[in-house]
Amino acid sequence: MSFALGVLISGSGSNLQAILERIEQGHLQAEVKVVISNQPGAYGLERAKVYGAPVRVIGHKDYPSRVDHDREIVSVLQDFGVEAVVLAGYMRLVSKYFVQQFPRRIVNIHPGLLPAFKGTAAQQQAWSYGVKLAGATVHLVDEFLDHGPIIIQAAVPVLPGDDGQRLARRILTLEHRIYPQALSWLAQGRVQVENGRTVLRPLDCAPADITALGPCLINPGLEAGF
Ligand code: GRF
Repeated sequence: MSFALGVLISGSGSNLQAILERIEQGHLQAEVKVVISNQPGAYGLERAKVYGAPVRVIGHKDYPSRVDHDREIVSVLQDFGVEAVVLAGYMRLVSKYFVQQFPRRIVNIHPGLLPAFKGTAAQQQAWSYGVKLAGATVHLVDEFLDHGPIIIQAAVPVLPGDDGQRLARRILTLEHRIYPQALSWLAQGRVQVENGRTVLRPLDCAPADITALGPCLINPGLEAGF
């Protein structure tokens, strides 16, 4: 059975597209049940339609409070039978209520090496600060901004001649690889949280294999297809 995802976007949706591509290629055993945008003009809605994913627009300005907006989103996600919520360029902080409805089942991608450079324009923040390595983080979501147990990170060097935008483009290419990979681990039930840290469980081995070969090997890097 495939892992039922609901993807929340606000803009371009290139991460959404990367996820849909990996699903289509058979590398990620998941299904995007619904794509929800808080922005009616989000280009990601068009990308979703190309892949036949159902879309909904739920504008935050139509609701009196954050939690009212989140209640509507949660109810749509539940109607679609969503098991995990993927924040992919969703430019809203989710409420505690939202987090409680999907405990350890909401993921976010941030274009920075957390815990550094939280918030918007993380790539520009990193470049302006003068760091020599920048990158991206996929993490489980709690009610705090860009916070929660980290699943995977990837880094790129900051090159001479870079500016915030060039750096952002290079980071985005990596985002498109690590987000589907993190979702694949979640779909396989391999992401375990221990004392606020995630631990990647090995793929289950048949008992006969364990006897013959010893413990499974874990590759902490990207697997084939990601
Ligand atoms: C990405 O850089 C992501 O890390 C951040 O917002 C951007 C969204 O890009 N949270 P896209 O909409 O997936 O193209």
